[in-house]
Amino acid sequence: MKFLITGGSGFIGSNYLHYVVNKYPNDEFICLDALTYAGNYNNIKDLEKYNNYKFIKMDIRDRESLNDLFRTEKFDIVINFAAESHVDRSIVNPNIFVETNVIGTVNLLNAFKMLRDEFGHKIIRYHQISTDEVYGDLPLDKTDLLFTENSYLCPSSPYSSSKASADLFVLAYARTFNMPVTISRCSNNYGPYQFPEALIPLMITKALRNEKLPVYGNGLNVRDWIHVHDHNVGVDLIVRKGKNGEIYNLGGHSEKNNLFVVKTILKELSKSEDLITFVEDRKGHDLRYAMDTSKIEKELGWTRSYTFEKGIKETINWYVNNQDWLNDILSGKYKNSYNEH
Ligand SMILES: NC(=O)c1ccc[n+]([C@@H]2O[C@H](COP(=O)([O-])OP(=O)(O)OC[C@H]3O[C@@H](n4cnc5c(N)ncnc54)[C@H](O)[C@@H]3O)[C@@H](O)[C@H]2O)c1
Repeated sequence: MKFLITGGSGFIGSNYLHYVVNKYPNDEFICLDALTYAGNYNNIKDLEKYNNYKFIKMDIRDRESLNDLFRTEKFDIVINFAAESHVDRSIVNPNIFVETNVIGTVNLLNAFKMLRDEFGHKIIRYHQISTDEVYGDLPLDKTDLLFTENSYLCPSSPYSSSKASADLFVLAYARTFNMPVTISRCSNNYGPYQFPEALIPLMITKALRNEKLPVYGNGLNVRDWIHVHDHNVGVDLIVRKGKNGEIYNLGGHSEKNNLFVVKTILKELSKSEDLITFVEDRKGHDLRYAMDTSKIEKELGWTRSYTFEKGIKETINWYVNNQDWLNDILSGKYKNSYNEH
């Protein structure tokens, strides 16, 4: 089968490619990425050695180029990881979130539909990588409340609104055009290759440099942390065994508040908690996310292999041992890692 993996040089997409390219030698994986500030070719450079893998630099906002690519490549499966992914950036500049996350998704759906309708190609699956943030947030004091796939959409930020909008287009294409789609909604990921603007790699980076660690508000907002590998195992299961038209929640069952996460990082790195500095809260900051993942566990047999305690130790060690990777980002050098020829 021929896969198109968009956003494959970002954090989750690159981990997905490392998981599948070697595991499925009979499948072909084409990674499409615009290499925005968050796309780092260093994350996937080592995959060049595989014969069942290829990289294409392209922007999912560019409809014409996408259509040309689909005319020549005849994909069987599309997995859309590509997105503007950082909530804080969406508060500063919402428009690009609409362009990439909503219009880019519709461009991909149209190109895939064209492959079926104009070329008679038997398309197998369009999978949309979505987020728990489409459900909005939960109160801090009602810990028994969890998001299920039937929870209503109530996004708070421009980022989550754009992801929820994209999900609605994906479902509309299933109903209106009978497209074979699935959606996964996952909680906060951590692990290797994450751009150091997200909480965990940002705090590790700052702690390693003895810089102040900025914590929003009182630090008590809760996230359900999942190791990126467990997320990608779920995506792989859905893509291969999931039911068309279905949504699947994924989460770590590992609710921690931000302050706990930051203190854990400082402890692991033997740094003082005096480095913590509380800063003005994020606008519209979601209080708590928590996922009911029983559907994918029962229907597809998904399980997690990481506890937070194991995953965070391994992740901190990865950043400590890959400071060249980190330094390339901080100095801007990572932008030169992709050579067109
Ligand atoms: N990080 C999380 O905790 C998390 C949790 C749940 C869901 N998600 C979703 O998972 C997906 C991947 O997230 P991530 O954390 O890896 O993000 P990321 O920012 O690390 O990676 C995004 C990738 O998409 C590429 N991209 C951006 N705009 C593009 C465009 N217009 N055309 C082509 N490529 C483009 C970037 O170059 C980058 O490689 C996103 O859809 C995100 O919404 C993330």
